[in-house]
Amino acid sequence: MSDTKENDLPIGIFDSGVGGLTVLKAIRAELPRENLLYLGDTARLPYGTKSPASIARYAAQATAELQEQGIKLLVVACNTASAVALNALREQMSPLPVIGVVEPGARAAVSARPGGSHLVLATEATVQLGAYRKAIESLDSAATVREKACELLVALAEEGWTDGDIATRIIRRYIDEASGDDFRADSIILGCTHFPLLKGPIQVIASDEVLLVDSASTTAAVVGETLRSSGRLRESDRAGSLRFLATDGATRFARVGGQFLGQPLSYKDIELVDL
Ligand code: DGL
Repeated sequence: MSDTKENDLPIGIFDSGVGGLTVLKAIRAELPRENLLYLGDTARLPYGTKSPASIARYAAQATAELQEQGIKLLVVACNTASAVALNALREQMSPLPVIGVVEPGARAAVSARPGGSHLVLATEATVQLGAYRKAIESLDSAATVREKACELLVALAEEGWTDGDIATRIIRRYIDEASGDDFRADSIILGCTHFPLLKGPIQVIASDEVLLVDSASTTAAVVGETLRSSGRLRESDRAGSLRFLATDGATRFARVGGQFLGQPLSYKDIELVDL
């Protein structure tokens, strides 16, 4: 296979559901000529409440599907899968590169607020593994980190209840529970694919001085650097293609996914696959 053909292979992006479309959107903005192949494991969402063994198995199966389809780089757009399985997925994909979302998110927070206090909102599994804490502490030993599992926020975003009284009260309760003992966050890390949709009410509750960190754009920048430095960028005058795979519920994927993507999707755009 020539280099050009290999460079035309899509970037594979996988998430437990549609939340990773926020990462796809950022990659599309950064690298419009790249072909993108997205897989949402909607049949098994949420990953965040499952055991590490199950999450690792699901992530390996999703990666195998994308490998079989043919990709040149894998983005693990799911924070939970990045927290649990990144090293195993790197072995599985070797020698092709694998990029997770935890490290780029931690890096963005630390460079914006050196020595700062970071509140990480994430799923139960991501919090239990201390994934962001470890990533932040390895980058900035002066940082203070508090992590809070916010499972209901996944459901709110999936339901499209991203503002109004119910969203505000639930978010306030999580943030209040995570605050106290003199802990005041300088940054709130949106450590779950779904939380960027709730940015509005989170910012209102947290006040203007608190920086909200979303790993989508930093992850997209890392994808760009990785392809550029390895000579794997696609060269074309035309925009890249977009393909969407899901393991269940094409209609729901299209409806909810359109909100995450910020553009309408039809169920006809979604191909169902069995892992
Ligand atoms: N994609 C997951 C994450 O970013 C959130 C949804 C889930 O629990 O599967 O952690």
